[in-house]
Amino acid sequence: MKTREGRIYGENVTIREENVKAFWAQRAALSGDTKSTLLGNHGGGDLSKMQNERDNTVFRECVGEGVQRIIEFGCGNGRWGELLKDIVESYSGIDFTPEYLDQARRLFEGDGRFRFSEGALTGLPEDFIRAGAPYTVGICAGCVMYLNDDEAEAFYRDVARLPIYSLFLKESASTMEKRLTLVDFPSKELHADYNVVYRMPSEYEAFFRKNLPDFRIERKDWLYPQESGIWAETNSYYWHLSRM
Ligand SMILES: C[S@@+](CC[C@H](N)C(=O)[O-])C[C@H]1O[C@@H](n2cnc3c(N)ncnc32)[C@H](O)[C@@H]1O
Repeated sequence: MKTREGRIYGENVTIREENVKAFWAQRAALSGDTKSTLLGNHGGGDLSKMQNERDNTVFRECVGEGVQRIIEFGCGNGRWGELLKDIVESYSGIDFTPEYLDQARRLFEGDGRFRFSEGALTGLPEDFIRAGAPYTVGICAGCVMYLNDDEAEAFYRDVARLPIYSLFLKESASTMEKRLTLVDFPSKELHADYNVVYRMPSEYEAFFRKNLPDFRIERKDWLYPQESGIWAETNSYYWHLSRM
């Protein structure tokens, strides 16, 4: 059922990778701020501060304070690398937006622990990944929401084959009893339109059961305080999984 232009409730509809890519290229060109990959900051500057603090706290509660060998799928401009740099033994980041990778490389220039590669979740750069393996934790935050269901399942299947011990996954999800897909939704600030699938957490968990069968969920929950009322129909949801 399509209720308002570009907002589709309940149905499984397809979004196009080239439109997602165009959006992120434009977004990346806007700012070099490491917090700029966080969307929905119409609540003011304190919102990205709260999100960064909460992401950092919950990650450390799940994964611990020990040093980590990290791989991040859809790393953007290196926001997670920045949050976690005191516990990074090595960090490998992959993203399909070259402008973000340039920003990330500048941020960690001269720090040999950090390496970045261009690549899509739908075609991971295996040589780059294998060269930095094994990893204690794989992060994917706010990226699978830009994939269609078949692509999302293929991505998790690829992740399952990699030498990664645990996963910290976070996606903007629907707080309703149905998914919401934005198809070519007019962006207020950019010329490129926004495309995203806000799935229910249960839909992600069905993907995990099927495609990450060797992993079990250690902890999961909504990430940000729902009572803040910032997002009417969505909120971030996170899962910490470890290989059995
Ligand atoms: C919301 S940002 C999140 C960035 C980072 N994970 C963070 O939490 O700060 C989404 C990122 O996903 C990347 N992205 C989206 N779809 C992708 C795909 N199919 N392959 C690789 N990167 C993708 C975008 O370029 C962007 O950097």
